[in-house]
Amino acid sequence: MALRKIRELGDKVLTKRCKEVTEVTERTKTLIDDMFETMYEAQGVGLAAPQVGVLKRIVVIDTTGEDPILLINPVLVETSGEQSGQEGCLSVPGKAGIVTRPNYAKVEAYNENMEKIVVEGTELLARALCHELDHLDGHLYVEKIEGDLFDVEPEEEEA
Ligand code: NI
Repeated sequence: MALRKIRELGDKVLTKRCKEVTEVTERTKTLIDDMFETMYEAQGVGLAAPQVGVLKRIVVIDTTGEDPILLINPVLVETSGEQSGQEGCLSVPGKAGIVTRPNYAKVEAYNENMEKIVVEGTELLARALCHELDHLDGHLYVEKIEGDLFDVEPEEEEA
């Protein structure tokens, strides 16, 4: 496993639409392992492949530090409710903003064996699911903030 460089706001790779994964190769598995390692090292709760410069529809999330979730080709199939709160992103270090998201989100995706999985969550997990899926279509939370970005301490949650 290896750490990958996290691309930051202003890098064009973060604005592109990512491609579907058709096959999980050894290279894909290495990418997934590296994404988890990079996310944990950066103390993030989520990371999408374009954030490490790879335009594939792959996301890793762990909102508790002990519940790693891998999503390949994820699709948001259901949302409900609303939450408004602070959100950050590993690609926008040291900053946060207020974003309104669904309070519940349900995602269909594939696992490492390309078996279909369903992941659903509320609160922080719902927020992380929506945030990370946006990355796969080239969108960052900064497009959705209410008010201005503000400075945060580096140990606060970022995705
Ligand atoms: Ni992010």
